[in-house]
Amino acid sequence: MIAPDDDSNETDEAPGSPRRLLHSYGRRRGRKLKPNQTALLEKHLDALSVTTPLDLAATFGRMPERLRLEIGFGGGEHLAHQAANNPDVSFLGAEPFMNGVATMLRHFEQKGLRNVRLYRGDARELFSGIPDGALEAIYVLHPDPWPKARHNKRRLIQKPFLDQARRMLKPGGELRLATDDPDYLIWMLQRVLIHPGFEWTARTADDWRLIPADAIETRYGIKSRLEGRPATFLKLRRRETAA
Ligand SMILES: C[S@@+](CC[C@H](N)C(=O)[O-])C[C@H]1O[C@@H](n2cnc3c(N)ncnc32)[C@H](O)[C@@H]1O
Repeated sequence: MIAPDDDSNETDEAPGSPRRLLHSYGRRRGRKLKPNQTALLEKHLDALSVTTPLDLAATFGRMPERLRLEIGFGGGEHLAHQAANNPDVSFLGAEPFMNGVATMLRHFEQKGLRNVRLYRGDARELFSGIPDGALEAIYVLHPDPWPKARHNKRRLIQKPFLDQARRMLKPGGELRLATDDPDYLIWMLQRVLIHPGFEWTARTADDWRLIPADAIETRYGIKSRLEGRPATFLKLRRRETAA
């Protein structure tokens, strides 16, 4: 296990070797779980949990025809919203933060969701089990900004990540990013705009200033807006062929 402050590793490495990946997340555990959270985990987690190496057919009982992935779902409000509004789509959510997983399970129970499976860990550990073109969308909403320059390399949005995202998406599939951090926004743009596998679909400023019509604000989205840092949304379409 790589210690959170160990900067000796690089993220820009060949994919598929999780041990060599720098952590892009902070804590795995936060406040002590409340008894109702523990009860939710005990009740649902075994049935909903995804293990690695990922076997999609076993995870969903059959190979899903339509599949989306949310990376770092936090409290799971966006994942639950999408899953409830798209019952014909299968959803994978990845989140190492146990308190977030417990909150997601509350949404899961309240909305009676059947089409979601959860991975309690680094989403990148799932990638080798996701075939080329299997995903119709990937959501990365308010990824950890790692604002200190010496920690920037922990940021999830890096070229190797974009290469993998492009591989896993169907042609025309969407990679959707959101951030409230101006520095990370520039970082994202610097990488996605030069990536040959994606095109930015925005036509007007509202396309990046307004929350997409099919989404809801996440906990971090609400918090940052109330603190005067509204989110920017980047909707990127996988090109049919790399430019
Ligand atoms: C700033 S929070 C945002 C949470 C949520 N998306 C929201 O908007 O409220 C970033 C989340 O991404 C998770 N995360 C970071 N790196 C991740 C990774 N490689 N795989 C899965 N989750 C990750 C963190 O644990 C954290 O919960």
